[in-house]
Amino acid sequence: MSSNSNSTEFDFKKMIDLVMDAILILSGDEIVYSNRAANRLLSFDEHTSLCGLPIGMFVDPLDMPLIHASLNKICCRQSDTESVQLSIHSSNNVQIPVEIALFYFPDEDQSLVQLTIRDVSNRKEAEESMIQSEKLSVIGELSAGILHEIRNPLTSIKGFLQLMQTTEKLNQDYLDIIMREIEQIEKITSELLYFTKPKSEHFSQVDLSNIVNETLQLFESQAVNLNTQMILDSDGASHFILGDKTQLKQVFVNLIKNALEAIHGHGTITIRLTSSEQYEKVLIQDTGSGIPQHIFNNLGKSFFTTKETGTGLGLMVTYTIVKNHKGTVNVTSKEHCGTTFHLSFPKVTTK
Ligand SMILES: Nc1ncnc2c1ncn2[C@@H]1O[C@H](COP(=O)(O)OP(=O)(O)OP(=O)(O)O)[C@@H](O)[C@H]1O
Ligand SMILES: [Mg+2]
Repeated sequence: MSSNSNSTEFDFKKMIDLVMDAILILSGDEIVYSNRAANRLLSFDEHTSLCGLPIGMFVDPLDMPLIHASLNKICCRQSDTESVQLSIHSSNNVQIPVEIALFYFPDEDQSLVQLTIRDVSNRKEAEESMIQSEKLSVIGELSAGILHEIRNPLTSIKGFLQLMQTTEKLNQDYLDIIMREIEQIEKITSELLYFTKPKSEHFSQVDLSNIVNETLQLFESQAVNLNTQMILDSDGASHFILGDKTQLKQVFVNLIKNALEAIHGHGTITIRLTSSEQYEKVLIQDTGSGIPQHIFNNLGKSFFTTKETGTGLGLMVTYTIVKNHKGTVNVTSKEHCGTTFHLSFPKVTTK
């Protein structure tokens, strides 16, 4: 760093050394200055010089495109300040979730960028416990419904078993009913597993296009059997968001299953992936029965179903997962014409 006089530079260093937040100054990818807090955060001795070390030493390679994109914007003066959230790893390999603010650092000789790094582990923990308690409250609300939904099949299973006990004969019809009721309980419990699994909020960068493709493969043979055409309308590009692949797959499984069920045979399901400046969007459109106006407000309520063997949990789980991914769901529908679900997720910028 050049400065007008050595004493100004000395005062300046003393000043940023006293700042609580970790500060790194970069020239390109290379650290040219680190304050004491940065050394502490990265588990170095306060007096060790990190000068010359590449920033990539502390950042996951998958997150480097995020940093590069922001550094480029700042260096080209396209933006004055940028902010990214990611995990860094310290020299003793501890992962620390951080929020990094990037600023242009004025210097006569070279293009420098200042990174102010804030450890957000405490905030993350607080957020996770909030999400956990939100889940618990959903479970609380659901309990009454679950008891009701599971007690009914159990009563009928018990009744038919008792009947066979009395007659001392196996009855195939009774066995079929028992099997159906058990499958119904199984469906309810597997849908609700999402709420009981330990929170996996360690979201990573995932490609929606990849997840949608894998989900479509699951339905391929079913769609052929039903004479339903599934069309993926995508430019083949990646659509990155921060998320959990298994949970997101569940979202698409639930929506495509509903679309197939609404079509009753010959029809089309179109899945379209698009990007805007800030969002990755997925549209799932079917040419099915459409949703009657009078039940529109019930969508996403637990146990609301118009199907004989539906649990009425599919959309509720879908909405909850999308919300946990900071996304939104909008539905448009026309009776006898079809339904479209519009999903939108905050985008992760790469490159
Ligand atoms: N694409 C769609 N077209 C028409 N109606 C739909 C569509 N998606 C959802 N619905 C309506 O919303 C209701 C609730 O859907 P949800 O997925 O929550 O439960 P379900 O499909 O009935 O049961 P499950 O998902 O357990 O099989 C459905 O019963 C149906 O009436
Ligand atoms: Mg469903």
